[in-house]
Amino acid sequence: MIISVPKETYPGERRVALVPASVPPLIKSGSRVEIEAGAGIAAGFLDEAYRTAGAEIVTDRRQLFQSADVVLQVRGLGANAHAGAADLDSMREGLVLAAPCDPLGNPAAVRQLAERGVTLFAMELIPRITRAQSMDVLSSMATIAGYKAVLLAADRLPKMFPLMMTAAGTLTPAKVFVIGAGVAGLQAIASARRLGAVVHAYDVRPAVKEQVESLGAKFVEMPLETTGAETAGGYAKQLGEEFYQKQRELMARTVAASDVCITTAAIPGKPSPRLITADAVRGMVPGSVIVDLAAERGGNCELTKADQAVVEHGVMIFGPTNLPSEVPTHASQMLAKNLTNFLKLITRGNELHINLQDEVVRGTLAATRKEVVSPQVRDLLGLEPLKTPAEGSPPVDHLAAK
Ligand code: NAI
Repeated sequence: MIISVPKETYPGERRVALVPASVPPLIKSGSRVEIEAGAGIAAGFLDEAYRTAGAEIVTDRRQLFQSADVVLQVRGLGANAHAGAADLDSMREGLVLAAPCDPLGNPAAVRQLAERGVTLFAMELIPRITRAQSMDVLSSMATIAGYKAVLLAADRLPKMFPLMMTAAGTLTPAKVFVIGAGVAGLQAIASARRLGAVVHAYDVRPAVKEQVESLGAKFVEMPLETTGAETAGGYAKQLGEEFYQKQRELMARTVAASDVCITTAAIPGKPSPRLITADAVRGMVPGSVIVDLAAERGGNCELTKADQAVVEHGVMIFGPTNLPSEVPTHASQMLAKNLTNFLKLITRGNELHINLQDEVVRGTLAATRKEVVSPQVRDLLGLEPLKTPAEGSPPVDHLAAK
């Protein structure tokens, strides 16, 4: 089996899907690993390091795709809509692609890959269950984003984070408000606490209160009805404009009293809820900082512009959409671990073995046999549900078409 890693082509992307340390176990299991020349350089991994680890360096990108049985990417087509389209022609029928590819944000790309005959494992669809944690790319990248958002805010804030008692007087600690306490939010809380800030947090999922408090932050109580705000899978539900209107009003005071707001509120496959209005921004002290991690889906702050810094009333609003790429070495290390753990699940030794009885495999499979098979993606594309979901279909013979 040939496992191939192309160089990422999304503008500014510095991560790579495999790091040299992840190569030897794949070679040991009998696979060949091909890496496009220069694929790891931006993350700090030279071609030579991959070669030493046992991989082959390939300069012809088209050839790399054509000879691959499995391609691993940081950004599959849907997460790299423009530049990624150039690779479609090189993908042969039966190719297995495992990559984050924004299937819920860009379902049309799943259809394009399906039409091409690619078997697509959309890594964002990994079920959020304990067994799949080691393959969970969303958690890995959210951890990095939460950490880096705090550093960005600390760097731009005209104050320091910790309490300091100095001969020149006492400096009060910065006040940080984290909105949305999922993986990114919890990491932001932990990082801001480590830097010495006083941290408040809010989330619509009531279960989160305990986790927030265990990190040394205060959970902001609000008289909002949040029973049923959580799906069975642990995600927040979309709660309707009336709810958000009330939430905005109730939160405005905490926002105004904060030096830094880090917003991470998200609803899978939906636009992010608007939680900080332009008026609330104007209620903050000039010099305050908002880092809006929900910028990719429209943002939690009304003034956020994706990948831009906006200044309103002296308040800086950042909407970074690719913070993990700012920490490319560790981000690639985590992604490589997630992807190789997933590979173990769909291979036996040196061969693909796609067991659709396994809920992690089935849940992640977005397209196969020229068909979009993920129920969520089909729904977004307006396609009828499949009569017999992928479950129960005969094993897919990926190598036959080669
Ligand atoms: P996410 O990125 O989809 O959303 C971030 C956070 O925003 C969530 O905590 C959500 O409740 C919150 N949110 C949504 N609307 C909001 C609003 N109006 N106001 C305030 N907060 C709002 O979530 P993420 O980080 O991907 O985690 C979602 C769930 O998945 C959590 O329950 C987490 O524990 C669970 N999880 C489970 C894993 C596993 O068992 N393998 C791994 C990772 C996460």
